[in-house]
Amino acid sequence: MDKKLVIAIDGFSSCGKSTVAKELAKQLGYTYIDSGAMYRAVTLYCIENGLIDDDGTVNEPVLEAVVSTIKIGFTYDADARVYKTWLNGQLVEDKIRTIGVSNKVSYVSKIGFVREQMVELQRQMGAEGGIVMDGRDIGTVVFPNADLKIFMTASVKVRAQRRYDELQAKGDNVTFDEVAANIEQRDYLDQHRDISPLRQADDAVVVDNSNLTREQQLTEIVRLVEQRQK
Ligand code: DC
Repeated sequence: MDKKLVIAIDGFSSCGKSTVAKELAKQLGYTYIDSGAMYRAVTLYCIENGLIDDDGTVNEPVLEAVVSTIKIGFTYDADARVYKTWLNGQLVEDKIRTIGVSNKVSYVSKIGFVREQMVELQRQMGAEGGIVMDGRDIGTVVFPNADLKIFMTASVKVRAQRRYDELQAKGDNVTFDEVAANIEQRDYLDQHRDISPLRQADDAVVVDNSNLTREQQLTEIVRLVEQRQK
């Protein structure tokens, strides 16, 4: 039987990491884990509990005091091979994807004690292997010994259009410019935060999917997986 690999997919916001990660997990019979969902859930908690201002200032002393009591859970959908995100007993899968959360998540995900807690959870979830995890620091911090590291990217324009179409389809009332501004802001904040900034691991394979179809991209990544399994 093939070895159960740990596959890390990092990259910029909205470049299709989760789409390809889900498809790959399905094809390999692996579990897909969305690390961004965890940071989004903590951000939703901050919003719902008045711990973050409009300008992104987080009440860190209060958050630090309660962070270990915040229960982030996942229920596993065996057919889709994906987890659905829960926050303190509430299913929050849709709520954590709104632009309100997207606009604030970089301020929460840059906090050291938040990251420590999430990284611990991510390592526990991936301990057995047979996983595809996507995020920003999976290949650099969470699983530095991952069997395969992909660094995905695409132009801001392509990414904004994809995210805009997605939000429109869900009935979220946003403009294209708003979505593009959010993506650019998150790129900047993700790359410039002090702790675990987004960067390409030295041994990551770069996949720029600006001009690739989903199928082409998946084929390329499956080829890389097969090389690692040999
Ligand atoms: O992948 P995403 O867009 O759902 O992630 C939401 C935010 O969480 C993103 O702006 C950066 C942060 N994040 C992070 O700091 N580290 C990760 N491993 C995953 C996400």
